[in-house]
Amino acid sequence: MTRTPLIAGNWKMHKTIAEAEAFIQALLPRVAAARSDVAICPPFTALGAMVDSARGSGVHVYAQNVHEAGSGAFTGEVSPPMLVELDVHGAIVGHSERRQLFGETDRALQAKVPALLDAGLVPILCVGETEEEREAEQTQRKLRQQVREALAKVDDARLADVVIAYEPIWAIGTGKVATPEQAQDAIAFVRALVNDRSRAAGDAVRVLYGGSVKPDNAAELLALPDVDGALVGGASLDAESFAAIVAAA
Ligand code: PGA
Repeated sequence: MTRTPLIAGNWKMHKTIAEAEAFIQALLPRVAAARSDVAICPPFTALGAMVDSARGSGVHVYAQNVHEAGSGAFTGEVSPPMLVELDVHGAIVGHSERRQLFGETDRALQAKVPALLDAGLVPILCVGETEEEREAEQTQRKLRQQVREALAKVDDARLADVVIAYEPIWAIGTGKVATPEQAQDAIAFVRALVNDRSRAAGDAVRVLYGGSVKPDNAAELLALPDVDGALVGGASLDAESFAAIVAAA
């Protein structure tokens, strides 16, 4: 089974449209020969501009969140059809910052993941344990719960269309990257959970690593047998360092 690696940059709440334009102009020539899939995830305000600027380049544009409903009285939210209208490729859902700071629940994700798929968008579903959970040897229990719950309403035939990002929370923005063994073990476990649902989907589903991925540690992580790419935060804000991670894939 060959799975095309995906390197996705999660900008979080960074970059105005002007800053995003400067970034994409610097990035495109640097990733023109990339053999992996490349994606950027700007704030909502820069999505339209980034889709226009990346058109024809092979770089895909994802949102960082989405509401599960098509429309409704949900002040401040954005729906899948609104992303489709912009020609956005997909959306991150369940990022640990959304879970911890904005109350995103596994139950909400159970609706968001199928809503994205139904709209023709690619979900990047984030899962991962806290430092306390890892120390208490609760990592697998946490991953099992998050993956099972979030994928509960996805048909087996669509499972492989979901991208899963394993992001240990203690590694996000801390410079404390998972060891290759920790990353491989957790990601193989996530794949096995999908395998329990469908053998074919488990083989085909892309599982990314995220958490302090930098140009100098990317090659080692991306060479691991079950790691199909990276979700990059801090190092994705600079075109040169993001392109170096793409090159490592
Ligand atoms: P980081 O963030 O690369 O800055 O650790 C990763 C993420 O939050 O997706």
